[in-house]
Amino acid sequence: MRLGVNIDHVATVRQARGTFEPDPVAAAFLCERAGASHITMHLREDRRHIQERDLAILSEVVATGIDLEMAATAEMVTIAKKYEPTFVTLVPEKREELTTEGGLDVAGQAERLTEVIAELKTAGVPVSTFIEPEEAQIDASVEIGAEIVEIHTGSYANATGDERERQLERIMTAAEHASGAGLSVSAGHGLTYYNVAPVAAIPEIEELNIGHSIVSRAIMIGMEDAVREMLSLIKEARR
Ligand code: PXP
Repeated sequence: MRLGVNIDHVATVRQARGTFEPDPVAAAFLCERAGASHITMHLREDRRHIQERDLAILSEVVATGIDLEMAATAEMVTIAKKYEPTFVTLVPEKREELTTEGGLDVAGQAERLTEVIAELKTAGVPVSTFIEPEEAQIDASVEIGAEIVEIHTGSYANATGDERERQLERIMTAAEHASGAGLSVSAGHGLTYYNVAPVAAIPEIEELNIGHSIVSRAIMIGMEDAVREMLSLIKEARR
């Protein structure tokens, strides 16, 4: 099982002040050192977190690989062809959303997506589609030429009790179907330290992409050391 670490929210903290820190480039090195199989980032149309500069530098320096999450727009296809990430994940994107809501409607825009995927494939960039755990979306992904599907785990992550079990079943069935159809199967969105285990146990899923929860935990694990370091600088200055 591979883990792609999504570093978007390192950039969110930087953008909150428009300063140089924390730099997602430095964070990517640490993720790789800890065993991440690749670095995932979403370059949004509104550039709310990751900037093109981040992608440009990371394309040069990342040793493992880059999963570029992007909308299927002409602008983003041009950017993907320029930086040639290890693979691209096509996601739906709305300006007003807090995070990616729901999967890509592959079945509903097959013609346009076929063109986008063909263009990316010609440039040597494999494509993953980020979809709801539904057979129709998996079959449509095969038809348009995707090689990977990433199953959206958001409904599972947001559910409780019996509904959570039902959502887990949907993911299991979809993973089996996608794997049977010859696709590589990933999953992600909303996965946390509390809910990851049942998804990680699904044998057909080869890769998880996790962001917000890891960045959140990193802040908590690092907080004491960060305060101690600052206090030591302050005390040193007063000596
Ligand atoms: N996978 C995809 C396709 C995503 O769009 C996102 C969020 O950018 C993630 C995984 C990671 O989601 P989270 O930040 O909730 O772990």
